[in-house]
Amino acid sequence: MEIHITVDCVPFDALSEDDRMLVEQAKAMTSTSYAPYSNFHVGAALRLKDGQIFTGSNQENAAFGMSLCAERTAFFAASAQCPTVPPVTIAIAARAGEEFTVAPVSPCGACRQALAESEARFHQPIRVLLYGQSCVYVVQSITDLLPLNFDGSSLPAC
Ligand code: THU
Repeated sequence: MEIHITVDCVPFDALSEDDRMLVEQAKAMTSTSYAPYSNFHVGAALRLKDGQIFTGSNQENAAFGMSLCAERTAFFAASAQCPTVPPVTIAIAARAGEEFTVAPVSPCGACRQALAESEARFHQPIRVLLYGQSCVYVVQSITDLLPLNFDGSSLPAC
């Protein structure tokens, strides 16, 4: 078996206006991050199919395991408030200190798993825009970043 994924690496200016706006919102959200322990400030912006946008940033805690990533902060807020509207695109950006990362920042495995649940639930791919100063990675589906992922189809029917 071979698994192929496509990651487009495009200059920020080559994105559509909607995508640029979503990336700008993710960048802006890095300023709401609470990251006194890592000093790594992550922002996420999630567009839903009806055009609504939910945003998030990473929220850390002295008990490190309690922290939550920017992507899940945005995704769970959207899911709680608009449970029937599928997400269609997520943008992610991060600053280590004052400067945005030069290379695009990638979502952690836990966030990939959480977002993959949404793709399975709604049969709606979530496009992923990973911002870096050098370029933006564009991936057409979160499960492209999580091949052979575990999902509910493996569980016995209730
Ligand atoms: N972080 C995110 O918010 N998203 C990711 O995808 C990777 C990591 C946060 C968690 C923690 O607050 C900090 O970045 C350093 O790992």
